[in-house]
Amino acid sequence: MNILITGVPGAGKTEVSRVLSERLGYRVVNDKDFSVKNKLGRYEGKEYVVSISKLNKCIKEKRRAKTIYEGHLWCELSKNNLSMFEYVFVLRAPKKLLSKRQKQRGYPVQKIFENIFCQDIKYIEKKLQDKDIVYKTINAGGNLEDTLNKILVVIYGKGTGYSTATNRKGN
Ligand SMILES: Nc1ncnc2c1ncn2[C@@H]1O[C@H](COP(=O)(O)OP(=O)(O)O)[C@@H](O)[C@H]1O
Ligand SMILES: [Mg+2]
Repeated sequence: MNILITGVPGAGKTEVSRVLSERLGYRVVNDKDFSVKNKLGRYEGKEYVVSISKLNKCIKEKRRAKTIYEGHLWCELSKNNLSMFEYVFVLRAPKKLLSKRQKQRGYPVQKIFENIFCQDIKYIEKKLQDKDIVYKTINAGGNLEDTLNKILVVIYGKGTGYSTATNRKGN
């Protein structure tokens, strides 16, 4: 099984993927790491600009099972490549949180504004819809365990807290 976790910068993709990968025993592939490693783009100043056609070619050759692909770039993949994901999650977080996290990373104000705008206009969701890709939106602004549970409920029909809740006296 392959899982895609996407969303704008600061939504929590890397953190959620890291913990989810431990629970599932999956590996994680980050979009930028994958692109740098396979030389799919070039640096323009501090920014690494990835060629989407190269990304499409490369992922076709290098796709692996039991992998969580995380990053915002993956939503740019072709319909054919996106159909390798059994589950697609779009993480969203409140604007204030996105702004705080991106500020901590030293992103310029303009970039923060653009990223928040992307979440507002549902840029990623539209990219997926255009390619008829089914996705689930996850509000990832709360605590990490809640976010994980929301994802696990979609995958397995129940989250990690499920057995404890049903074992409570009177339930
Ligand atoms: N509940 C949470 N879910 C995800 N990330 C969180 C949460 N609480 C705090 N964080 C922190 O928010 C920051 C941004 O998350 P990150 O996973 O790097 O976002 P992204 O990969 O989407 O840009 C990280 O420092 C992460 O540890
Ligand atoms: Mg990240």
